[in-house]
Amino acid sequence: MTVTLVPAPVVGSDPASAGSLDVLGVPGEINLDYAATAPCARVAADAVTALLPWYASVHRGAGALSRRCTLAYERARQTVGDFFGARADDHVIFTRNTTDALNLLGRALPAGTTVVTFAGEHHANLLPWPRGSVRLPVPADAAEAVRALDAALGELRRAANPGLPVLVAVTGASNVTGELWPVADLARVAHRHRARIALDAAQLAPHVPVDLLALDVDYVAVSGHKLYAPFGAGVLIGRADWLDAAPPYLAGGGATARVGAATHDVTWTAGPARHEGGTPNLLGAVALAAVCDALAAADRDALHDREQRLLARLRDGLGALPHVVELRTFGPEAPRVGIVSFVVAGRDSADVAAELAARSIGVRDGLFCAHPLARRLLGEAAARSGRRDLPPTALRASIGLGSTEEHVDRLVAALAARR
Ligand SMILES: Cc1ncc(COP(=O)(O)O)c(C=O)c1O
Repeated sequence: MTVTLVPAPVVGSDPASAGSLDVLGVPGEINLDYAATAPCARVAADAVTALLPWYASVHRGAGALSRRCTLAYERARQTVGDFFGARADDHVIFTRNTTDALNLLGRALPAGTTVVTFAGEHHANLLPWPRGSVRLPVPADAAEAVRALDAALGELRRAANPGLPVLVAVTGASNVTGELWPVADLARVAHRHRARIALDAAQLAPHVPVDLLALDVDYVAVSGHKLYAPFGAGVLIGRADWLDAAPPYLAGGGATARVGAATHDVTWTAGPARHEGGTPNLLGAVALAAVCDALAAADRDALHDREQRLLARLRDGLGALPHVVELRTFGPEAPRVGIVSFVVAGRDSADVAAELAARSIGVRDGLFCAHPLARRLLGEAAARSGRRDLPPTALRASIGLGSTEEHVDRLVAALAARR
């Protein structure tokens, strides 16, 4: 079956959101699940379509097609690195997604590294880390996160061999609440304690500019499919030394400099190729680079303002429904991106999501691959609201470039009718 993607109408009349940054969609289908996977930006689809006739091997062929594809792949690496403010000596490694990027970093940690995270992280930033990692409790606010990290790193440096590496791994924006984490402050604290810091920017990058240098983080991990670039490429960007010293993430062709006749006679290459064994995902890289180019040229402040107005409308609408309770970690006014999780009192979240789907409104339900945080916030929501009939899982609505006031209003109206 051939599915024709129908371009969504250009979003609103806001020039900053029009033109090169419109997204594809299906008329009548309201997608409020951007945090899971964002729709495809037209520029990503166009870039892939333009390259498809040339589609051939990357770094493997001498023909014109292959050379063009190799060039496109390496240009994409440059574009993506520049977009995220990579330092000249950072590696920009294409991966499948953020999970893959953080697992790669996890495999590249020098022996004896302690990883410090907060319990509010997505599973992708909780599970790849070695035994002995430290998981700090979910803080009450951003300032407490900074204080807690400072105390924990001070303690770690006193207790452990001070020469051993420490990596702090934090999210930029929560996939459950959309709340922003104080990344630059956490980076300052980490570096004061001679620790490195990795930023999980899966939810941050689609909403605000992320710049390694400006934030002074050592690594950043991103998913293309959440950044309007389908075709499945993510990226890990960061310091070269650990990555070049680590065994290859994927052993095989492309990762080697020389392979001898003896079983283990292998010299692995250095640089990004060391961890990109096998034929790379050219189209994913090109799609991601196309979106990075378009976002770099866009008025990000205007996009952000527009999203914040929609988010306020969504939260106000939900807040006015007496049977809806929002989940949050920090205070209600804490800065956040366009993600809201909530429950409908007395209603199973999966049932509500299915009813919304029947009205062509797509949201997410469950614990959002952040089980420790989601369970905790559900408990807090019950205590805060005084309600004993909250369900054990939640709903999540998330917005972005193609979202409109009508989408938000339709969700709120549908929930108002679902008591
Ligand atoms: C904050 C955060 N980190 C990591 C991930 C993992 O992303 P992916 O599934 O693209 O690997 C997600 C996905 O929802 C996320 O929200």
